[in-house]
Amino acid sequence: MSPKISLTRYLIEKQRGRQDVADAPGAIPPQLRLLLEVVARACKSISLAVTKGALGGVLGAADSENVQGEIQKKLDIIANEVLIEANEWGGHLAAMASEEMEGIYVVPNRYPQGEYLLMFDPLDGSSNIDVNVSIGTIFSVLLKPEGAAVSEQDFLQAGHQQVAAGYCIYGPQTTLVLTVGDGVAMFTLDREQGSFILTQENVQIPPDTQEFAINMSNMRHWAPPVKRYIAECLEGADGPRGKNFNMRWIASMVADVHRILTRGGVFMYPWDQREPGKPGKLRLMYEANPMGWLVEQAGGAASTGTERILDIQPTQLHQRVSVVLGSRNEVAHMTSYYEREA
Ligand code: AHG
Ligand code: MN
Ligand code: MN
Repeated sequence: MSPKISLTRYLIEKQRGRQDVADAPGAIPPQLRLLLEVVARACKSISLAVTKGALGGVLGAADSENVQGEIQKKLDIIANEVLIEANEWGGHLAAMASEEMEGIYVVPNRYPQGEYLLMFDPLDGSSNIDVNVSIGTIFSVLLKPEGAAVSEQDFLQAGHQQVAAGYCIYGPQTTLVLTVGDGVAMFTLDREQGSFILTQENVQIPPDTQEFAINMSNMRHWAPPVKRYIAECLEGADGPRGKNFNMRWIASMVADVHRILTRGGVFMYPWDQREPGKPGKLRLMYEANPMGWLVEQAGGAASTGTERILDIQPTQLHQRVSVVLGSRNEVAHMTSYYEREA
């Protein structure tokens, strides 16, 4: 029987890889290894809080709103605090940014400052917390540009500059999904051992699919290319696509992306006319970029409809973006409708 590979061993082996080939893809410096270990530890602790549910008093709304004007859930705040407390003292970070905080969180002076920047959506899928449906934590890691004291400007890097990204899904299993730029690996939490164990390497998204994910209740607000694409999916074998489609919408991006990494599919949260000035619902820096990179690393594609998500030059920490991602042939088919519109 082959030995179980823990996340710790996986990361140490990645770090060693660096000694053989300088700048080899996926080779990681010790500080990045430490950072990923700490994020994983925080996710274990969030997983424990999620699992307790009503017994832990973690369900329901907090008495506050975040910077995006959304009512915060107790778990949004708990998860945010867990991630900050776990990461602020280790010396690997210069600063953090989160969906739940308006500005950046600079590592306090009493701790050493490192060279990395960490961004997170501490609790994704908040509307699913109280109904016991899968939720998660999404994270993205960047290198702080050299020079002056850390600032919000340092975070405004395109998605292709990420050095690590991933998510942890709290579902029937707790699974950590990670990329450091050489493919996607999945680690399942072994609760008896208290450690994440490698359960899948080299994750590949099938290029074709017959499954789509979109919030259909917004149909009347969509742009023409989206209306056309979904109408043709619904026509199934009788329409121009010549095949039937299935639909899934979990309303937790982590869970929808996890399904796509596991069996393919296409996920969309496009711009719509409800608030025409808003590019989309999902946030670029800590939702679309990390998920987009994971999907690309697994052979899929991630687009706004008109451009590659990872090529967007951000201008704001909390900026939003239109998202189409998943099986690459299906994303190409969908986005070809935008091109024809143009
Ligand atoms: P969050 O809970 O971090 O605010 O993110 C929720 C996001 C995303 O996870 C999901 O895909 C989408 O919002 C769900 O939107 P609808 O409520 O329109 O279904
Ligand atoms: Mn989210
Ligand atoms: Mn969130």
